[in-house]
Amino acid sequence: IPNDHAKMIEAHELIAKFYHHLLLNTDEGTAALEYLLNRGFTRESISKFQIGYSLPEWDFSVKFLEKRGYSLELMKRAGLIGARDNDDSYFDRFRNRIMFPLQNSKGKIVGFSARAIEPDDQPKYLNTSETEVFNKSSLLYNFHAARSHIRKQSFAVLFEGFADVISADAAGIKNGLAVMGTSFTQKHAQELRRLIDAVTLCFDSDQAGAEAAYKAGNLLVDQGFTITVAILPNGLDPDDYIRKYGTEKFRTDVIGNGYTWMAYKLYYFRQGKNLQNEGEKLQYIEEVITEISKLTNPVERDLYIRQLAEEFSLSLDALTEQLKQLNKTHQ
Ligand code: GTP
Ligand code: MN
Ligand code: MN
Ligand code: MN
Ligand code: MN
Repeated sequence: IPNDHAKMIEAHELIAKFYHHLLLNTDEGTAALEYLLNRGFTRESISKFQIGYSLPEWDFSVKFLEKRGYSLELMKRAGLIGARDNDDSYFDRFRNRIMFPLQNSKGKIVGFSARAIEPDDQPKYLNTSETEVFNKSSLLYNFHAARSHIRKQSFAVLFEGFADVISADAAGIKNGLAVMGTSFTQKHAQELRRLIDAVTLCFDSDQAGAEAAYKAGNLLVDQGFTITVAILPNGLDPDDYIRKYGTEKFRTDVIGNGYTWMAYKLYYFRQGKNLQNEGEKLQYIEEVITEISKLTNPVERDLYIRQLAEEFSLSLDALTEQLKQLNKTHQ
């Protein structure tokens, strides 16, 4: 089995080089390359992240791998090709897509995320499914390259999409990471905890992104991390933002200007609520008191109780009373 795993990785490394070559040096790759350059990926990024292109053929990769002596059964286990049910033949899983190699923590390619070029080609991203060498719930995109920067800067920036990692990298943010089409897990947190205890979250500015940031943040806080949340204006993701406002503004106004975890939670609970409405106002206040009750630092507690009292013209007595009750039920 260890030999099988080495072969699976070797095949990924080899075919990634070929996909990269197809993108940069062939007529077939021109449209894909144009797409990438038009949306703002630099040539430096394309080569650093070894981005490639897979041909539309159904058997290009099958033949490529077979010719080089790889067992097709093994290549199927590696997720590079699929097998037809009816006649034991194999076919390319990735066709006419932009190929983003996924590296494990040692920098070895163990899978791909393949992006459609045409807007109506579904799914938008086709990822290698979980294999013996590709563990989705622990792999972090860019971890190998970012590791030394994460150590040096004592924090990592976690993005929602790996396209954001690539744009941020070109903008000088070298400590960026992303999960691969799963939510952030305890395993991801543990992998990071060996290096650092601070993470900046920079997720897409939409409902899905806000929820994902809230979940990832809670998980990280439970593992002892200090969290900062960088907020983007309406509807943008980091990649969009960098295209629109430039790298300098992204570094200072977004990454350098994040919310504390508590401030983010208040912002998150407020979203989509009409605080003029009694019921929604009461719900918000209750959510905030619940969060305050979890704070262990008395000064911090005091600060947020006073803020809440002032904003909603509530008496400190009433808030303190409710806090006591909450703490009782928690014990
Ligand atoms: P672009 O549209 O290319 O800019 O992608 P994005 O990075 O903005 O991706 P998006 O915000 O839509 O999604 C964030 C992440 O979710 C991606 O990096 C993928 O890992 C994952 N994802 C998005 N769409 C799909 C999909 O269709 N299939 C799978 N498996 N994962 C997806
Ligand atoms: Mn998104
Ligand atoms: Mn996005
Ligand atoms: Mn998008
Ligand atoms: Mn995007």
